[in-house]
Amino acid sequence: MKNSPPHDRGIINRYRQYLPVTDTTPVVSLNEGSTPLIYSPWLSKAVGRGAQVYIKYEGLNPTGSFKDRGMTVAVSKALERHARFVICASTGNTSAAAAAYAARAGLSCAVLLPHGKIATGKLLQAFLYGAKMISLRGNFDNALDIVRQFSENPEAEIVNSINPFRIEGQKTAAFEVVDELGDAPDLHLLPVGNAGNITAYWRGYREYHTSGKCATLPRMIGFQAFGSAPMVLGRIVEEPDTIASAIRIGNPASWKAATLAIHQSHGAVDTVTDAEIITAQVQLATKEGIFVEPASAAPIAGLLKYLSPQRSDNHPFPQLPDEARLVCTVTGHGLKDPNTPAGTGMNLIESDATLDSVRSILETD
Ligand code: F0G
Repeated sequence: MKNSPPHDRGIINRYRQYLPVTDTTPVVSLNEGSTPLIYSPWLSKAVGRGAQVYIKYEGLNPTGSFKDRGMTVAVSKALERHARFVICASTGNTSAAAAAYAARAGLSCAVLLPHGKIATGKLLQAFLYGAKMISLRGNFDNALDIVRQFSENPEAEIVNSINPFRIEGQKTAAFEVVDELGDAPDLHLLPVGNAGNITAYWRGYREYHTSGKCATLPRMIGFQAFGSAPMVLGRIVEEPDTIASAIRIGNPASWKAATLAIHQSHGAVDTVTDAEIITAQVQLATKEGIFVEPASAAPIAGLLKYLSPQRSDNHPFPQLPDEARLVCTVTGHGLKDPNTPAGTGMNLIESDATLDSVRSILETD
């Protein structure tokens, strides 16, 4: 059998029958998706009772985050209807993905970014992909409010997750999990910012369930940063704050849909502190060799929080069956945010350029 040619890869061609495209939709793709689902011996052992924990490493998408899944669909549809430019508000990753896919489609791209709050790698990406970058004296929620007002402009395609095609594309990550595991996991843990991704996964699992691809459905467990936790608090956070800049959001656009997903799946939404996030980010790197940005470490931090003996309040673990399967989505690559606090203690040891000098350093504790 012949291998499929490279232009047949990417999530639209892989999952075409589940997506809102036709044979005439121009496919704008960078071969996104098909990210690794990595078994974690460390976390599996920590959960115990024969549990298997897997990491869905979405940082290995073409622009380094899960946003590429939604962007391939949103930008393809924008091109199909002859939009002239794409626009988004972003904490960084959406803007990187929008800029890349717009470049690929030959469309212009404008991004509105909260001033001073974007990780360096993400800024560099959007800049090099050629986007017009606007630094807003305001936060993400202010930026999204402005972007929403472009909905009347037929030349503009808003590519935030309020664009339904974004959620459609992102649901394919759930398909991939089921395709690899043979069924849905018992729990699916992920970070929550604007709440589009948790909504998308739940939709993906449900659609696969309806079409008989999985027999079960997971409980969806979302984690927000402690200083940016509107869904946990049940109210808008006016001045959200966390070192996990990707999820520094006080009024999630998909709040309602995500609440429904959590409710229908008998899941939960909880908080993790910045300190817990940084510890989880470092541990995931040192124990498993997986480097993620701070926001992406939130579900790992959440899992560790539930396993901690100090934790006395209710959490979903007591109800877990033996040999449970858990999937944690880690949403963005660690290299996007090189100034993260986890890197501040970096210990670089200087050496003369001699074997003796290097040896003596290796022999000291
Ligand atoms: N993780 C990362 C790395 C993100 O960039 C985001 C969102 C999330 C998690 C949360 O996903 O919004 O679907 O709940 N980033 C958006 C952006 C807001 O502009 O890049 P969500």
